[in-house]
Amino acid sequence: MLNIGQIPALEKIRTPFYYYDMDLLKATLDALAASASSHGIEVHYAVKANVDERILRMISSCGFGADCVSGNEVLRAAECGFRPDNIVFAGVGKTEEEICNALKVGIFAFNCESLDELAVLNDLAGKMGMKANVSLRINPNIDSHTHKYITTGLYDNKFGIAAHEFDAAAAMFRECPNIVFNGLHFHIGSQIMDVEDVFSLECRRANEIAEYFESAGLSVANIDLGGGLGVDYADPDGSPIAAFDRWFGTIDANIDRKGGRRIHVEPGRSVVAQCGTLFTKVLYVKHGERKTFLITDAGMNDLIRPALYGAYHKVENVSAKFRGDASEKVYDVVGPVCESADVWGEDRVLPETGRGDLLAIRTAGAYGQVMSNRYNLRDYAGTVYSDSAGSGK
Ligand SMILES: Cc1ncc(COP(=O)(O)O)c(C=O)c1O
Repeated sequence: MLNIGQIPALEKIRTPFYYYDMDLLKATLDALAASASSHGIEVHYAVKANVDERILRMISSCGFGADCVSGNEVLRAAECGFRPDNIVFAGVGKTEEEICNALKVGIFAFNCESLDELAVLNDLAGKMGMKANVSLRINPNIDSHTHKYITTGLYDNKFGIAAHEFDAAAAMFRECPNIVFNGLHFHIGSQIMDVEDVFSLECRRANEIAEYFESAGLSVANIDLGGGLGVDYADPDGSPIAAFDRWFGTIDANIDRKGGRRIHVEPGRSVVAQCGTLFTKVLYVKHGERKTFLITDAGMNDLIRPALYGAYHKVENVSAKFRGDASEKVYDVVGPVCESADVWGEDRVLPETGRGDLLAIRTAGAYGQVMSNRYNLRDYAGTVYSDSAGSGK
């Protein structure tokens, strides 16, 4: 829960800034670890969700692995305490430099996304006198019932290797001396709320595909089912910790662990979303012809999810909570960027709000700060951690 007791200190900090509740992050990691161990599942945190150094160090200190989608993420994960042999590297467009660097780091496995990439992995590993451990990222053609832009497991998506190339992929492992078959990798989408249906289907499809590769003479020692568990954007305080038990219970009940197969997952959003809040001040209240606008000093460059995906983030007026204001009004809450898409929310019911009020844009810890940019030449938002509140940059 957002610790309102700290707001007076926070009100003095230059806005906008990202605020991370490190106690909530720790509680989330403890719940994740307990649930994963009780279901025999290995966790690689999806670094793309948030690359903040303190967050990465806390996650690595709990013994989790890392899932990376660029060479720089691999290097950062290693720098922030993740064991190299616990790092996996996916991504449809790995460059030769990124592949060589990851080989040097000594990662656990490449999650290979195309036959072309498989040939390059074999070639580069050979030139370096090494063997590359490779899982095949599969496109299982499963609809994860989520937003179009975060659906990744359908044939129309660019990710993974589809069924018509399985024979050729298996043959390449038999013929290429420098790639070692590690197993299968899937990641079918993000913010999945239909947990039982979607993940049980993913497991059943993974079992069938594993059977196929085993029958082609390749031992499937690892199945990585990717990330995707959704979080509650509407009620962050009601469900601050994601439903790890439902997710892992579904996997446990449906995945085939034949021959002691290791099962891995790659959660990102469900680990860090709820611990992050974007704080912003109201610059102006504008009474339009039809609407009343609250114009904030944070914009879509600080948090692009609403503009990019039409994503919902709960907005709260924390100054009004502190004042104890009761009367409410309807506002469109908008950012300052010169784009009509720079909107936090339309027709939001908030306590009567004035210039200078501090607003909290909740559930901003995942795909928030990491996607920020300097559009309009705006400055980056600062960072404040709950255990050192008041020290914002
Ligand atoms: C390959 C891969 N693994 C894991 C994740 C993490 O997904 P999520 O944040 O939904 O858990 C992503 C994100 O889309 C991804 O691309």
